[in-house]
Amino acid sequence: MRLIVLGATSSIAAATARLYAADGATILLVGRDGSRLEQSAADLRIRGAERVEIAVCDLAASEDAERQLQGFADQIGGMDHLLLAYGILGDQGQAERNLVAAEEILRVNFNSAAAWSLATANFLERQGRGSLIVIGSVAGDRGRRANFIYGAAKAGLAALVEGIAHRFADKGPRAVLIKPGPTVTPMTEGMTRTGALWAKPEQVASIIYKRGTRGGPVAYAPGFWRYIMLVIRNLPSVIFNRMEI
Ligand SMILES: NC(=O)c1ccc[n+]([C@@H]2O[C@H](COP(=O)([O-])OP(=O)(O)OC[C@H]3O[C@@H](n4cnc5c(N)ncnc54)[C@H](OP(=O)(O)O)[C@@H]3O)[C@@H](O)[C@H]2O)c1
Repeated sequence: MRLIVLGATSSIAAATARLYAADGATILLVGRDGSRLEQSAADLRIRGAERVEIAVCDLAASEDAERQLQGFADQIGGMDHLLLAYGILGDQGQAERNLVAAEEILRVNFNSAAAWSLATANFLERQGRGSLIVIGSVAGDRGRRANFIYGAAKAGLAALVEGIAHRFADKGPRAVLIKPGPTVTPMTEGMTRTGALWAKPEQVASIIYKRGTRGGPVAYAPGFWRYIMLVIRNLPSVIFNRMEI
């Protein structure tokens, strides 16, 4: 198993990579911070990975995702799974006042992620097998005043990944969108992170790991978010718009 992780310094990605390492996978960690990637690579080798390489890259700045993706795959002798994990939450209030900040949220979470997803889809289609696993968010299921710019990017990404899964339906490769609920990671630092709805990165990671090889094209993490979001999506706007959620 050869895994490429885009955004490998993410807490959810790191927890997922540990599960692949325990299985003896060969892993390429891609991210912006070389020293953190090196630390993570050393940890994964101890945990059983066959081989771990790193690539330092600003994933939102790529101008040729297909060529760069081929380079990543060549670095570890091929690609079976790709986990797209990077993202930014951004500051919703600031982004409403300053459209440059809004565009940055959309560019990182949608435009660049879409380019990597499409490049991966083409690679997997040529190869006839393998999995594209993309981390979306429950925030993409219904726009809320607290984070609808980030949510819009994740909603766009959801449609894109579902479309790739549809394109693959009668072919060998798989595409899976993982939709985590609120998770205790650096992204949510500063929020009040108590209560039963908050997950640990390891809980989300175990769902990502399982769904990389089996199951349908969309997975909520933890799974109970499927039912919560079913209710939230179907609330009439006259009720929804009065809620502080
Ligand atoms: N935490 C939550 O509550 C939650 C809920 C739903 C979905 N998600 C999604 O889960 C994914 C993982 O996030 P996380 O919770 O694990 O948060 P995290 O630990 O803060 O990870 C986010 C990662 O994205 C990386 N990143 C951002 N922009 C990048 C770029 N241009 N190039 C390369 N790397 C970049 C960051 O790298 P640097 O360290 O270099 O900045 C960071 O490692 C994200 O897609 C997020 O939207 C999170």
